[in-house]
Amino acid sequence: MEEPMKRAIIVYESVYGNTKKVAEAIAEGIQQLEGVECRVVKTGEIHTDEICDYDAILFGCPNHNQEPALNMIKFLERASIVHVKGKIGGIFDTYTGGNKGVALTKLRTIVNEKFPGIEFLGNGFSAKVEGRKGPLAENEVKVAWDFGKEISKKLVE
Ligand SMILES: Cc1cc2nc3c(=O)[nH]c(=O)nc-3n(C[C@H](O)[C@H](O)[C@H](O)COP(=O)(O)O)c2cc1C
Repeated sequence: MEEPMKRAIIVYESVYGNTKKVAEAIAEGIQQLEGVECRVVKTGEIHTDEICDYDAILFGCPNHNQEPALNMIKFLERASIVHVKGKIGGIFDTYTGGNKGVALTKLRTIVNEKFPGIEFLGNGFSAKVEGRKGPLAENEVKVAWDFGKEISKKLVE
């Protein structure tokens, strides 16, 4: 019998489009393996209930004042009633200057708290942007793509 399609979703927040680009590159990486599809959606464009339809759920947002962007925090608060136990989880952030991983660490704490039982694949990653509006630093799209590929491999395991 044919294996059912594995489905991933990336919920992102983005002001200037850089985090969106990272999300799209991850999605491309995820879709490299046959039998895996990925949806990319902004926080305001999805009903929180919908995330339980997916086998892998990723969250990504910019660092805003050393915190995950507020719209992402609000989304996670609204979504926390959704059961995601045993699903694959992934996180990423974008940052400028010396703030690599700062919002990411906080995002991980919030996701862990709101979604007990989600199984993170690795630590996620932090993509650098050159100044507030970007562009993304060199190589970050490739790192995002590779991260997606790892998620994909895990999904078809
Ligand atoms: C209100 C605001 C606050 C910010 N604060 C920080 C910060 O504390 N540390 C940091 O590294 N970047 C900070 N940034 C830069 C953002 O991380 C950067 O704009 C973002 O990564 C770009 O992603 P986007 O194009 O998806 O919006 C801030 C940006 C904004 C708009």
